[in-house]
Amino acid sequence: MEKPDIFACLPGALLPWYEANRRDLPWRKDKDPYHIWVSEIMLQQTRVEAVKGYYARFLEQLPTIADLANADDEQLHKLWEGLGYYSRVRNLKKAAGEIMERHGGVFPKTHKEISDLSGIGPYTAGAICSIAFDLPTPAVDGNVLRVISRLTNDNTPIDRPVFRKQITENLAAIYPSRAGDFTQALMELGATLCGPNRKPDCSNCPCNAFCLAYANGTGEKLPVK
Ligand code: ADE
Repeated sequence: MEKPDIFACLPGALLPWYEANRRDLPWRKDKDPYHIWVSEIMLQQTRVEAVKGYYARFLEQLPTIADLANADDEQLHKLWEGLGYYSRVRNLKKAAGEIMERHGGVFPKTHKEISDLSGIGPYTAGAICSIAFDLPTPAVDGNVLRVISRLTNDNTPIDRPVFRKQITENLAAIYPSRAGDFTQALMELGATLCGPNRKPDCSNCPCNAFCLAYANGTGEKLPVK
């Protein structure tokens, strides 16, 4: 099977699997872009289990973007204590201020406007746009790079920017209308069956019929770093 065919198979295989197997996570209960944004920033360097409690407390104390923009630094520091990488929460507050000034307090809806906010890179902008607004914007993180390296049996080192760019383009071309579910299905596969540092659980994988690493027995050797 050629690469474009493998990408084309993904939505049909992943969406039903995700529907049946998705973990019940607090940030999957609604599509409010503020909520998705906070969750994605927390999840950048921190494990899902650790984020759950921080996410609930943060939104309880700062339920709106305006609350975040006006929060005092000591409160923010307390809300973030233990998560580490404090620049993340400083940028959250800064971007909340930008949303108040530039967008009247309403979270912007385009990839460009979202990418222009402090602390939001291409991955996070893609995640927010697809999950909150169902736009066809891939969110390519380490999990997705690993899953795609294996599916296409590609030994290109995953830190090559062109590799990420190619995967982003290939995914954008096949994004289904359920964009948010598709983004999270890819993340979910990379976090569970096709996870890092262990043998992939190919017998339970919804993609094993068209996965080239499975066909070639190379799953454990990929991705190349
Ligand atoms: N890691 C990054 N984003 C995530 C999400 N939305 N759900 C689970 N894990 C994630």
